[in-house]
Amino acid sequence: MKVIGISGSLRAKSNTLHYVKTALKVLQEEGIATELISLRGKEIKPCTGCYDCARKQKGRCSIKGDDFDDVFDKMRQAEGIILGSPVYLSSVVPQIMALLARATFVSYWSDKFFSGKVGGPITVARRAGHNVAFSQLLLWFFFNGMIVPGSTYWNVGMAGAGGARDAEKDTEGLQTVINFAHHMAGVMKKLFA
Ligand SMILES: Cc1cc2nc3c(=O)[nH]c(=O)nc-3n(C[C@H](O)[C@H](O)[C@H](O)COP(=O)(O)O)c2cc1C
Repeated sequence: MKVIGISGSLRAKSNTLHYVKTALKVLQEEGIATELISLRGKEIKPCTGCYDCARKQKGRCSIKGDDFDDVFDKMRQAEGIILGSPVYLSSVVPQIMALLARATFVSYWSDKFFSGKVGGPITVARRAGHNVAFSQLLLWFFFNGMIVPGSTYWNVGMAGAGGARDAEKDTEGLQTVINFAHHMAGVMKKLFA
């Protein structure tokens, strides 16, 4: 059993990274292998809508020369996927959406291999837009037939003003993520152990 946690922030020491790491630490303590993937320093080109994955080469994206395949293969192999995104203008960040659009189409037009995996979203904002971004990620999990455990609140982190990197102060948000990770471990053990 393995869970990968993807942080979509391109900033060093980002808040999103901190929440995703917090979730992965709980899963490790629960005996589940984890891997953190930060999209910082990685290039994920956007989907061009070529439909090659539907027609020409099922199971692969035909866009080359970026880091998509590495991340995608890890998503495909893991039983669990946590997606963390900063909120930019009430939305998930473009690099996360680029990854998810391509991963979804490759899966959808082959054998829908995300189906039955377990996972959930984490979104991080200073003030507003969590619900939109969180819903965007939930729609991804549900489109792909995945199982999303709940928590004691939504997995949303609150950051300080002016680009503050202060996730460690958000005790309520971190606890929500910790509770989510315990629920995720419980569901995964029932399904895969
Ligand atoms: C271009 C940009 C747009 C942002 N838009 C929002 C927003 O719509 N709502 C909000 O509450 N915070 C917004 N923020 C603040 C970030 O969500 C916040 O700084 C968050 O901690 C960034 O995540 P990171 O630390 O993981 O990079 C924005 C920040 C940037 C740079």
